Amino acid sequence: MTDPQIVLAERVQQALADAIGAEYADADPMIRPSQFADFQANVAMSVGNRLRRSPREVAEAIRAQMSGFPGTVEVSGPGFLNITLDTSWIADQASQMLADPRAGVSQATPQRIVIDYSAPNAAKEMHVGHLRTTIVGDAMARIMEHLGHTVIRQNHLGDWGTPFGMLIEHLLDIGEDAAVAQLEAGAGTEYYQAARAKFESDQTFKERARTRVTTLQSGDPETMRLWHVFMDATIRYFNKVYTMLGVTLTDADIAGESMYNPMLEKTCDDLQAMGVAVMSEGALCLFPPGFTGSDDKPLPLIIRKSDGGYGYASTDMAAIRYRVDDLKVDRILYVVGADQALHFRMIFAAAEQAGWLPDTVSAEHIQIGMMLGKDGKRFKTRSGESVKLTDLLQEAVDRATAAIDDRGYDEVTKAEIAHAVGMGAVKYADLSISHDSEYVFDFDRMLSFSGNTAPYLQYAQARIRSIFRKAEVDPAAVQGPIRIGEDAERALALQLLGFGAVVDQVADLVEPHRLAAYLYATATAFTTFFEQCPVLKDGVDPETRASRLALCALTLRVMETGLDLLGVPVPDRM
Ligand code: ARG
Repeated sequence: MTDPQIVLAERVQQALADAIGAEYADADPMIRPSQFADFQANVAMSVGNRLRRSPREVAEAIRAQMSGFPGTVEVSGPGFLNITLDTSWIADQASQMLADPRAGVSQATPQRIVIDYSAPNAAKEMHVGHLRTTIVGDAMARIMEHLGHTVIRQNHLGDWGTPFGMLIEHLLDIGEDAAVAQLEAGAGTEYYQAARAKFESDQTFKERARTRVTTLQSGDPETMRLWHVFMDATIRYFNKVYTMLGVTLTDADIAGESMYNPMLEKTCDDLQAMGVAVMSEGALCLFPPGFTGSDDKPLPLIIRKSDGGYGYASTDMAAIRYRVDDLKVDRILYVVGADQALHFRMIFAAAEQAGWLPDTVSAEHIQIGMMLGKDGKRFKTRSGESVKLTDLLQEAVDRATAAIDDRGYDEVTKAEIAHAVGMGAVKYADLSISHDSEYVFDFDRMLSFSGNTAPYLQYAQARIRSIFRKAEVDPAAVQGPIRIGEDAERALALQLLGFGAVVDQVADLVEPHRLAAYLYATATAFTTFFEQCPVLKDGVDPETRASRLALCALTLRVMETGLDLLGVPVPDRM
């Protein structure tokens, strides 16, 4: 691990233990970037207060134990340690990072991780909310895999339930071919609304739909065939969206609600037998401890309705048991809308109560904030309807095409770049803000070539590529060594050394926006370097040129790897 902040933290902890006592070896050294040095460590303040000793004295004692440290340590103010690393140390570390095929990213102790993401509902159109869970979940899957974990993607499609009775009857009414064409085109909402309208106005249709629910539940072969016709067409549309976005989900990752059908009866019976589920007002319910409604009454999770039907909670109970027992996972990430927070807290609590979620397995709801329109309200089109995702994505590509139209590329290259920029912009906009905050969908902002956007990062990366094209050097073959003369070189190298630590942190906290922020800071540091430190200009001596090319190569690796981990495509040129 080359990350200076981590190297420092270990060194300060050691000095603290030596100076004050071994019991302090685990204290958080509180290392922060500093205005006056590379970093400051604030630990002497808290330790001093705790020991009723002057923090300055504690800081001096720590400093005295830091001899041999590759840098300078100064005590300042009431007891801060200002730490400046030796430039030669930074250069050495950067040279080593360049030689490291993993560019400083660690190989984690492998875990088995379920990532439950995307999960649109077949009875309705895949909407923009699913865009966010798809993009965030996919980035996390890429990141976890890169660290060496086994990722089990689970696309928990809403593909079952009572609405399927009327959806199948509607399919029979309009004919299979027409239905398939409509669903494949992404008109799921219109289809659903048409079925719903008939269900409400037409008594015979309503009865047919009800009967169909029963035959579907009983597994009647012809009904199952029709259900497959409906689902396959719907999934083909979802796949169109995934393909456009370059999302790694495949049909093999589909583990929809229907998959748990055969398990639901036993799930409920087992919960009832162990006394975790009890009958209440005719329904079988879970009352996980600690959840009460506004009336102070315990809040139920209904797992079998009074008519014998199962629902969302039953499926999630079966799913958590399956994931723990059969998939043998260490960690489950539910990348799902923030509005389902209570549902998941209750599911996790009930699963713990049933002994289905042992302490060794961590279940985490990664809350996805709502997507808003520019007006600050839930995202809709101007006509007030929900937006068809393929149209929305196409608009991003069209706008990107217009933005690069005058750059003189041939049609094929232009289309490639526009696709990368358009999809990169949509994805990065989602990933650059914390996943649980609300976010305003704004094409102008996300497609801007300046600021914390995909086009800015893609451009920075493409510019480095063009340096290598001009130099006729293969960036993968560059070896350095990296030497540091200028401040901008030093700042860039120091920034690059932090890559591995950020990736680790993103995996621990499930906060991909930290990687986005890191890449943006890296691109900014590169821009300053590139303005101040000529690489290929005449008069640059060969050693400096080699070192600067090495810095460019390392920046390129970090940018490309980082953007790839986020799932943002990187065009060669822009
Ligand atoms: N289909 C659900 C929705 O659209 C999300 C499912 C999330 N996963 C789960 N295991 N409940 O909101």
